[in-house]
Amino acid sequence: VNTVNTSMFHYWTYFAKGVEYTLLISLVSTFFGVVLGVILALMRFSKQKWVRGLAISYTEFIRGTPLMVQVMFVYFGIGVVINIPALISGMIAVSLNSGAYVAEIIRGGINSVATGQTEAAESLGLTKRDMMQYVVLPQAFRNIWPALGNEFISLIKESSIVSIIGVTDLIYQLNIVRADTYRGVIPIFVAMVLYFIMTFALTRILNHYEGKMKHAG
Ligand code: ARG
Repeated sequence: VNTVNTSMFHYWTYFAKGVEYTLLISLVSTFFGVVLGVILALMRFSKQKWVRGLAISYTEFIRGTPLMVQVMFVYFGIGVVINIPALISGMIAVSLNSGAYVAEIIRGGINSVATGQTEAAESLGLTKRDMMQYVVLPQAFRNIWPALGNEFISLIKESSIVSIIGVTDLIYQLNIVRADTYRGVIPIFVAMVLYFIMTFALTRILNHYEGKMKHAG
């Protein structure tokens, strides 16, 4: 007689692998997203109009199209030329997406420094460069840092879309468990709780460090 073990505990390795992949994709993509975001933000300060235009176009286009289409486009687009693992395609697509969002975070952080501050720095006779380095960027950084943490948390949720190209993240694993156990709902609930544990824990950790930064003055 064939019996199916429908206990979710029996499938914990599937969920564990899913969590592992989801965290890996999110971490790697946040890292490259920040690298790309800084480059895009710098491009927007360029004296060359076409460089600024390129950065703006990229950011607008990425933010104006669904991450889902971008993931499919990168995977099948690269697939025309060479075969690369879905995991790598997924990471590339999510990183390219994140870069556009990070660029906006950085721009917003810099713009949030009150104009009064820059005017004061100017009246003190600071050069543009010194003003950026000593007045604007240190203050902007305090707004940017927590927002980058939030981007990581966003990617934990948003990266779930890579399951459509077969990356073995948490969504992919929950579907395997559903098929194996014939239980349509419980695996989804387990995955949902696991996502929440990840985002909730990270939020608490980030708030802790943010509080420390405020006290550092
Ligand atoms: N889900 C939305 C989309 O498909 C937002 C993606 C958010 N990306 C990010 N890096 N924060 O476009």
